[in-house]
Amino acid sequence: MTASSPFIHDLLARRLPGHALEQAFYTSPTVYDLDLEHLFYREWLYAAPACQLAKAGSYVTMRVGAYEVIIVRGRDGEIRAFHNSCRHRGSLICKSKQGQVAKLVCPYHQWTYELDGKLIWANDMGADFDASRHGLRPVNLHNLEGLIYICLSQTPPDFDAFAELARPYLAIHDLTDAKVAYTSTIVEKANWKLVWENNRECYHCSSNHPALCRSFPLDPDVAGVSPDGSVSAVLQAHFDRCEASGATSGFRISDDGQYRFARMPLQEKALSYTMDGKAAVGRNLGRVRLPDAGTLLKFHYPSTWNHFLPDHSLTFRVTPISPMETEVTTTWLVHKDAVEGVDYDRNRLTEVWIATNDEDREIVETNQRGILSPAYIPGPYSPNQESGVIQFVDWYATWLERSLAPMRQAAE
Ligand code: FES
Ligand SMILES: [Fe+2]
Repeated sequence: MTASSPFIHDLLARRLPGHALEQAFYTSPTVYDLDLEHLFYREWLYAAPACQLAKAGSYVTMRVGAYEVIIVRGRDGEIRAFHNSCRHRGSLICKSKQGQVAKLVCPYHQWTYELDGKLIWANDMGADFDASRHGLRPVNLHNLEGLIYICLSQTPPDFDAFAELARPYLAIHDLTDAKVAYTSTIVEKANWKLVWENNRECYHCSSNHPALCRSFPLDPDVAGVSPDGSVSAVLQAHFDRCEASGATSGFRISDDGQYRFARMPLQEKALSYTMDGKAAVGRNLGRVRLPDAGTLLKFHYPSTWNHFLPDHSLTFRVTPISPMETEVTTTWLVHKDAVEGVDYDRNRLTEVWIATNDEDREIVETNQRGILSPAYIPGPYSPNQESGVIQFVDWYATWLERSLAPMRQAAE
């Protein structure tokens, strides 16, 4: 039992369903540490698109809480993840966000690792030194249809149920044939849960997202699914049409609410997230036959939401970096043979979501500042407009209660 336990149990016990969380959930270092320890350090997290690691020696690095991770493609084509901490005296090995190397060489004393993590060179370590005992420590990894997921836990939770549900939706988007057209990383000065809450509703869209509203529908009958999973006749007709064309589309959510898929329509006549609603890329990524199939929406708590369109795909990665700072990385994927300036214009492709992300950053930071006031009282969510937020917060509270149950039982 830790000193924090009564505090967190009291907070959870006081939670009013259908209402925003108490201040401490969005500000407290204790809650933040619990979020890291019991969620981000245990669950499968989206890391990067596999196509970002185009050839042997391509790597990306990421930080999750206190952990530093390298993800690298080996000479055999396999993508692997390792803790980015040298087995000599612990230095970071790769300092850049991404790069290309022949071997993984520690900058401190040049211990040198093969791309599969084996230590292959360490100068003057004495006759008894056993290099085979000092390879890089592996991190669990799955490559799901071109999306790299990692798990920091030595005993990762099941990935198969998620992968089975995801594959039919994702396969048609051919993400292994993609290339990264653009990546943007921003830091939002707000707790990671506020970033998610904002993502899970479009109640704020009409007054904050002029560019996005040119293509994204606001009518809950078109854009939303009821909490019980039922959908409007308009939405069902869209699912049916997409399914008939060969694109898995219907609304599916996991039993515990951690992940969800649905191919949602855009505004009438809009084909993609562009200012004029026309396609952003002349050469499609994937084999979705209906140009107006809309956007396959995927979320997977706690680390990612995604949009897969007929012409391009977008991944968003959410990484908490302190109790009130969250990094959001957005990656635009296009067909690997699409040529910038010929098949797409990078500004046209990215401008809607660059603007939308910045608008979201502003409103989420403003939300955080208001919550910091001692006068803050959690208010009610709109059952119609914010059912997605209610779903997220219920999932979070249930998951936290379940994670803390063993600690509680041990204390009783
Ligand atoms: S810490 Fe890496 S070689 Fe010394
Ligand atoms: Fe938004």
